[in-house]
Amino acid sequence: MRRLDTRTIVVASHNEGKIAEIADLIGPFGFSAKSARELNFIEPEETGTTFEDNAAIKALASAKASGLPALSDDSGLVIDALDGAPGVYTANWAERADGSRDFVMAMNKVEKALQDKAALTPEARTARFVSVLCLAWPDGHTEFFRGEIEGVIAPEPRGTSGFGYDPIFAPEGHDRTFGEMTAQEKHGWKPGEPQALSHRARAFKLFVETCLAA
Ligand code: IMP
Repeated sequence: MRRLDTRTIVVASHNEGKIAEIADLIGPFGFSAKSARELNFIEPEETGTTFEDNAAIKALASAKASGLPALSDDSGLVIDALDGAPGVYTANWAERADGSRDFVMAMNKVEKALQDKAALTPEARTARFVSVLCLAWPDGHTEFFRGEIEGVIAPEPRGTSGFGYDPIFAPEGHDRTFGEMTAQEKHGWKPGEPQALSHRARAFKLFVETCLAA
């Protein structure tokens, strides 16, 4: 495992929701970080078939373009009744013909697919959010950190916090969806704490424990 010995990195993302969460998570560690979006880097095409593949594509593109270590996140919603869909194609389900993203449409698509499978009870609507973080260096070295959180798909969207599919995902042990939680509740983690809640915070905790540990 290669340690990260600089605190100047690129956050290899163009997704405002993810950039905000990663900024929150790295905040306490004194990072100076710019996002690929702020740096006007071209968004690479996600041609992989796994979260790991796509996370590596994004992190390596930013590390090579900047000459700095870069941290990416590839994530998605894996729904059991839909045989794991939308999975690595979670962002695609929100894509409109003009290239813009519409998550109300995407959440309706999920609901329609679940109804087509007669998946109406919480037991039939189990799912997990997955986040794979990739830390890539300009020399091509990569490290991966995977976080998952089990939950259920709510019968209708609830709450306006967060981003993407947050309003339809209620994490295990909670009645509220991520869309009804503050960012701090969704992370469920602070440096030094043993537990984290969201998939991204769980992956980030692994990154801290392995690449940043003294
Ligand atoms: P990608 O990693 O850029 O391929 O996109 C991941 C997709 O999953 C995006 O459409 C996000 O909206 C969705 N997603 C990932 N993490 C979360 C989350 O924490 N909350 C809600 N949606 C998420």
